[in-house]
Amino acid sequence: MRTHCVLAFVAAAVFSAAATAQGEHARRLAAELVVMAGDVRRVASGSESALHGEGLRERLAGALSSLPLLMRRAGADPAAVPALRAVLARQDWHALDIGLRALQRKHPFEPATILPAQATPERLRLGEAIHKQACAGCHDDQRKSLRDAPATATKLPAFNLFEQAKKLPRAEFAARLLIGVRGDRSTAWRNPFSDLELGALLAYYQKAGYE
Ligand code: HEC
Repeated sequence: MRTHCVLAFVAAAVFSAAATAQGEHARRLAAELVVMAGDVRRVASGSESALHGEGLRERLAGALSSLPLLMRRAGADPAAVPALRAVLARQDWHALDIGLRALQRKHPFEPATILPAQATPERLRLGEAIHKQACAGCHDDQRKSLRDAPATATKLPAFNLFEQAKKLPRAEFAARLLIGVRGDRSTAWRNPFSDLELGALLAYYQKAGYE
């Protein structure tokens, strides 16, 4: 009887680990689609500098190259991707937006586990600690240069995360955090943070100002 219980427990644990792993691919795909759609809006708005527009176009091209793999991992059919690449090559932002929206409807992003219900003092402290330790080195320089002069010298600058958190829809900022720390796509390391830690960062960036 006892052994049965233990086995049942182990089976349940293995099953849920597998379910989580599969869910993680689906979630990453959904988040990537949100980020891509956001980048399309940024480019299409025409408010970005020419250099930054170029960086975003390159990032979109990179995202579209890895999208089929991401989709297969999530158990989705990548048949729609080649058409999206053609549309990007034409820089038809409206058509790309429509194509990405169609994919987003099939793969909706659920940010609930990241979005903090409340910005408790503990969460804010955790967010601040992670930021100072792991992010400020790059994203703080940008904070200074943003105030002095808009950074136009890099294709994809390390944005001011405090501003991004307040400017972007929460779900989009959560997706950008999830897709994560990627100073450079070619070295892209997987996001090493838990949902709790991402939620703490999100709460901190939203709450804290920059002096
Ligand atoms: C080594 C420098 C470096 C570090 C450290 C770093 N970043 Fe970044 N980050 C960048 C650069 C450069 C970009 C812009 C390039 C890009 O988006 O691919 C970026 C982009 C981002 C983006 C995406 C912005 C967008 O437009 O989608 C987010 C979100 C982000 N970083 C969050 C973080 C967080 C949170 C940390 C700490 C846990 C962190 N970064 C640490 C350099 C860094």
